[in-house]
Amino acid sequence: MASWSPSPFPLLAGLLSFLLLCRPSAASATPSGGIHHGFIRKPLSPEIPVFREAPAFRNGEACSSPPGNATIHVAMTLDANYLRGTMAAVLSILQHSTCPENFEFHFLFMRLEPEVFSSINSTFPYLRFRVYRFDSNRVRGKISKSIRQALDQPLNYARIYLADLIPVDVKRIVYLDSDLVVVDDIVDLWQVDLEGKVLAAPEYCHANFTKYFTELFWSDPALARTFLGRRPCYFNTGVMVVDVEKWRQGGYSQRVEEWMAVQKQKRIYHLGSLPPFLLVLAGNIKAVDHRWNQHGLGGDNLEGKCRALHPGPISLLHWSGKGKPWLRLDSRKPCTVDHLWAPYDLYRSSKPSLEE
Ligand SMILES: *[C@@H]1O[C@H](CO)[C@@H](O)[C@H](O)[C@H]1NC(C)=O
Ligand SMILES: *[C@@H]1O[C@H](CO)[C@@H](O)[C@H](O)[C@H]1NC(C)=O
Ligand SMILES: *[C@@H]1O[C@H](CO)[C@@H](O)[C@H](O)[C@H]1NC(C)=O
Repeated sequence: MASWSPSPFPLLAGLLSFLLLCRPSAASATPSGGIHHGFIRKPLSPEIPVFREAPAFRNGEACSSPPGNATIHVAMTLDANYLRGTMAAVLSILQHSTCPENFEFHFLFMRLEPEVFSSINSTFPYLRFRVYRFDSNRVRGKISKSIRQALDQPLNYARIYLADLIPVDVKRIVYLDSDLVVVDDIVDLWQVDLEGKVLAAPEYCHANFTKYFTELFWSDPALARTFLGRRPCYFNTGVMVVDVEKWRQGGYSQRVEEWMAVQKQKRIYHLGSLPPFLLVLAGNIKAVDHRWNQHGLGGDNLEGKCRALHPGPISLLHWSGKGKPWLRLDSRKPCTVDHLWAPYDLYRSSKPSLEE
């Protein structure tokens, strides 16, 4: 059960643990109460919330011929605990897009939860999407404990293997976290000129890069040499445009993995899947406008405090950090920025509702 992440359904999670504890050993009870003999036909999973159906977004005239008719590939992870966030993100992308029918979504999941897929189907009946199982064995034994438990869940590491999971005919993809909304046409991000780089993302060169790595890292000349010859800047791995072909050719999955192996032996950083990305790519990416990742809206990693918006234009709002807008809205203690997420919330109830 998902004890690693801030569950949006704490009560349901509790109920589920109760069901698991009470499960008789000979016969097994399904969540609906039916009894199967000898084997579990369906894995127990948290109750999937019910969502409103999103409107059918249709393509404009400009979408029927090149370059407007090109498919835009977007990758996200899919997990019952973050489903509400994923639904809001997808809605926001479609709603602000000139060519909403041109999208193909690629969802990475870890545990098979058919209800989650059918929930996407019924919420977005017109969405083109494919799902891929990320085998957590890929990262078994490679994940080091970070300062925040939520960062240690294997699905967070799936983005490292994205290029191996999606079909080879996908040449470029936008990877997005599930705790964000897009408030602009994402085609502007998608079309970025990568200028030969493998990855594009907003760069934050004013952030103190030193603090992402431990003293042990900086004091070891062999390790500290890593950034020689580049000007490393922080970037957030929650919003990335990836040249998938280059990623595969350059063996980037292995290169990120190698740093995870180093981390296993000596503690060279504190966060989860982000630092190994920085080690391989910082200072070597194509920088895009900051408007494409107004990050940190979740609040401080340790204190969960509210954050205000940075000045400047915004195309994407990202609730990275500890707090999530749906949890704060539900608890009636929202931060001001959470009201910007609320319009994209398709959540209806945690049980099938009779009212319409
Ligand atoms: C885009 O339109 C051109 C010309 O109409 C067509 O040849 C091409 O196959 C279309 N591409 C897609 C992905 O639909
Ligand atoms: C989603 O809908 C499509 C088209 O109706 C169907 O082929 C597919 O099996 C559905 N997937 C799930 C997981 O329900
Ligand atoms: C950056 O962080 C390191 C480690 O925490 C600290 O020693 C250093 O003084 C900081 N540099 C600046 C410019 O704030």
